[in-house]
Amino acid sequence: ASSLTWHHEPVTVLEDSPFVRACRGLPGPHTPVWFMRQAGRSLPEYRKIRERTGMLESCRRPDLVTEITLQPVRRHNVDAAILFSDIVVPIAAAGIDLDIVAGTGPVVADPVRSAGDLERLRPITTADVDFVAEAVRLLVAELGATPLIGFAGAPFTLASYLIEGGPSRTYLKTKAMMYAEPALWHALLGRLADITLTFLTTQVDAGVSAVQLFDSWAGALSEADYREFVMPHSASVLRGLAGAGVPRIHFGVGTAVLLEAMGEAGADVVGVDWRTPLDVAAKRVGPDRAVQGNLDPAILFAGWDVVEREARRVLAQGRAASGHVFNLGHGVMPETDPDILTRLVALVHEITAR
Ligand code: CP3
Repeated sequence: ASSLTWHHEPVTVLEDSPFVRACRGLPGPHTPVWFMRQAGRSLPEYRKIRERTGMLESCRRPDLVTEITLQPVRRHNVDAAILFSDIVVPIAAAGIDLDIVAGTGPVVADPVRSAGDLERLRPITTADVDFVAEAVRLLVAELGATPLIGFAGAPFTLASYLIEGGPSRTYLKTKAMMYAEPALWHALLGRLADITLTFLTTQVDAGVSAVQLFDSWAGALSEADYREFVMPHSASVLRGLAGAGVPRIHFGVGTAVLLEAMGEAGADVVGVDWRTPLDVAAKRVGPDRAVQGNLDPAILFAGWDVVEREARRVLAQGRAASGHVFNLGHGVMPETDPDILTRLVALVHEITAR
């Protein structure tokens, strides 16, 4: 319908699936559920596949991406698959020398801290991430009626890895550049927005049914700074996908004061961590947007009775929103018992069956 500004392949969104219907604020047969990091170390079958293969290499092999993405779908009966990849895959394709170190996260060999460093971050084309398009095509064929969610890191979260050189608790160098060198900051985030949009467009053209923009670390900012330094760049990514026909999910951690702005940036669904109850979040994002979340991943370690009680609370509070996609407030921790996740999916389906 809204293809006026979309000059790419026609997309096949699974509009009738419970997941896409909830993203659009439409009723469905049950509340859909999937988990951030549902693929990964909580699954023995994932650990086995990764024994001899590095993280980045796994992301570049369509056969492995397909198998790893399907593992949690087979095991848990979730309502959506999420592409197995990582937020730093497109910036590695853009020419940045980096690695994903087990137990640490992305590590950048030479951090980006000056106008000269910016030259090492070149624009990408779809051809630079053809392995992702190939994996999406294989997955869409295998998944049938189950939607596949594509994703990318948002410009701020990507910039934090590039500037710090790795994970950070304080984002000191990131914020210093933001305040001291706004022209360089906006040039860097503008480049990252272009790379991110190309990465997501590639996934949409190959057949994903939704996209999630991860601004995991945006919660480090005040609302005023978010609106001035970050939101224009995330908005250019989300608006670039406006005509694509797929729901756009926008997620971050610790974003209680940012929920309204993250919706305004151009999201159809706003992801909420466990700190903000969904009824409060629903008021902040307004009646035209759905919410996703928000069980604390730590609850999964507290025994089944607590899991059930808290899941019921999340579902009750989620009824205040125009649409609710059940999820955790952040990713599945590696130590999680996968049987609890399987049981939780069945519980959410059972409680919300209409
Ligand atoms: O199942 C899924 O959710 C899809 C796969 C996925 C991965 N990374 C796989 C992965 C997704 C959506 C991501 C996104 C991602 N990567 C984010 C945003 C989401 C979030 O958690 O807020 C961020 C911040 C990254 C950067 C990153 N990559 C981190 C912090 C880590 C963890 C480091 C560690 O070992 O604890 C990674 C590595 C990573 N990405 C793993 C997986 C399965 C672990 C790699 C391994 O198995 O050794």
